[in-house]
Amino acid sequence: MAGNWKMYKTPAETHNYIEAFKPLVAASTHCDIVLCPPFPNLPAAVAEAAGTTIGIGAQNLHWGKEGAVTGEVSGHMLQAVGCSHVIIAHSERRQYFKESEPEVVKKVEAALEWGLTPIVCVGELLAEREAGRTEDVLSEQFDGGLAPLTPEQFAKIVIAYEPVWAIGTGKVATPQMASDAHRFIRSKVTARFGAEAGAAVRILYGGSVKPDNVKGLMAEEEIDGALVGGASLDPKSFAAIVNY
Ligand code: 13P
Repeated sequence: MAGNWKMYKTPAETHNYIEAFKPLVAASTHCDIVLCPPFPNLPAAVAEAAGTTIGIGAQNLHWGKEGAVTGEVSGHMLQAVGCSHVIIAHSERRQYFKESEPEVVKKVEAALEWGLTPIVCVGELLAEREAGRTEDVLSEQFDGGLAPLTPEQFAKIVIAYEPVWAIGTGKVATPQMASDAHRFIRSKVTARFGAEAGAAVRILYGGSVKPDNVKGLMAEEEIDGALVGGASLDPKSFAAIVNY
């Protein structure tokens, strides 16, 4: 269960959030829990989550270790700060920053090199779904961004299916729609990396997950967890999702 805070909260707000969140999930051993705050809040998040099972993730990384790349942050730095995870290729990065599949591969490889678990996002736009192109888009994203990994690399990643039309819109995919997309992604994994990898890979659903719809989504065998945006910004709301 991962919370993507996007461009919200200051370090002080991060500290207060995690202080309130910790006791609400102290007994939640049924899943991994990850919070992904903005870069400047990562040290505060790591400090406040120390001694708990809550992992801290970043929302992006650059593939280099260091260098003259103004405005970027490397996996080396994220590891040094104490991150365990990093979101890669969120649809907002794909849309606003034109992230492409070759970059996804480089970012995943860099994350793994620095011991970070990549949460790699895929998902179709509304126009693509309406044109019946959902599986084509998921195929393109898988073939370009994930298929080039080695089986050893692939075994360490988490996939998040986030239909873009469901993000921040309140229009959650039905459990059936999400499940169908997950099954398709899993079939791609099986075809490329084998049945064991297909069964083992964790696929999270993201897009308007709320405390009142998470249960229906999680009832689907294909859905292994959730990547939550808006509803992860309040500790009680995200704890209710974690403890669905
Ligand atoms: P919302 O939960 O706000 O729809 O955002 C989903 C998302 O983009 C998580 O990465």
